[in-house]
Amino acid sequence: MKNFYFVKTSCVFRKFRFLTVFLFFLIHSSPAFCADSENDGDFYFVQVSDIHFDGGENSRRMEEVVKAINNLPMKIEFVVITGDIMADNIAKEDIAKQALEILGRIKPPLSPLPGNHDILQKKLPQTVPLYKKYFGELSHKREVEGVVMLFVYTEPIRKDFQVEAYNPWQLLETEFYSAKGKPIIVFHHAPTSEDFYNNASHESWPAEAKEKWEKLINSADVKAVISGHFHRDEYHWSGNVPMFAGGAVSHYWGRQAVYRIYHYQNGRLEYSTQYIESLPLPPPQNNK
Ligand SMILES: [Fe+2]
Repeated sequence: MKNFYFVKTSCVFRKFRFLTVFLFFLIHSSPAFCADSENDGDFYFVQVSDIHFDGGENSRRMEEVVKAINNLPMKIEFVVITGDIMADNIAKEDIAKQALEILGRIKPPLSPLPGNHDILQKKLPQTVPLYKKYFGELSHKREVEGVVMLFVYTEPIRKDFQVEAYNPWQLLETEFYSAKGKPIIVFHHAPTSEDFYNNASHESWPAEAKEKWEKLINSADVKAVISGHFHRDEYHWSGNVPMFAGGAVSHYWGRQAVYRIYHYQNGRLEYSTQYIESLPLPPPQNNK
């Protein structure tokens, strides 16, 4: 009887032990557990925007920004330029080459994307190939610690024009699908939010495109949308996704040169704006 009891209890224990082991592996391999323990990412990157290389004051400012970035104490995974690298002057070879030389001094990997002053809507056949020649593809991506970074040229959506063999809507849909649930950060030039200046609100994106953008951005695990264009520090929302607009390097509207350091940690993003104090302040101009 005793033996029988022993056999029965040991069988129950063995079954229970297998169940425990099974549950242990089930819990530790579940997406929820992985999301808390792995692939959350903890890294820094830098945003530079609206440099408007001009062979003069703006170029000098960027030289100082490059020195400051290269001197940062933390590891910078990449430096994004959220458009307007040039100032309607991409066809001026000397200025474009100077821009490349200064940008070439940046030590972390560089991720530029085009703005409305790089690729000119009225000169697409000339400026699209020049942009590609100097700065690379119209859109590209990189992955850092399981986070997918999408650098996207969205001006054709905002201004409603076509660039041959380039469809930003389709590109975003494809990239969101291939991210397979990984966290995403989208970078582009002009924010979809209202552009408030001279004490009045101005439309930045057409209402229909803005609505479509918000729907698409909220259909994936997009942690943030980061842009430039406003030459001002701004913070908005696209549905449930935060939108950060960074200030400019260029001197327009009498503003100081700035860049931003972002820290991504556990699925959340924070930043600090850095001012280049070594540069003389430009004279004040009319606000934008
Ligand atoms: Fe712009």
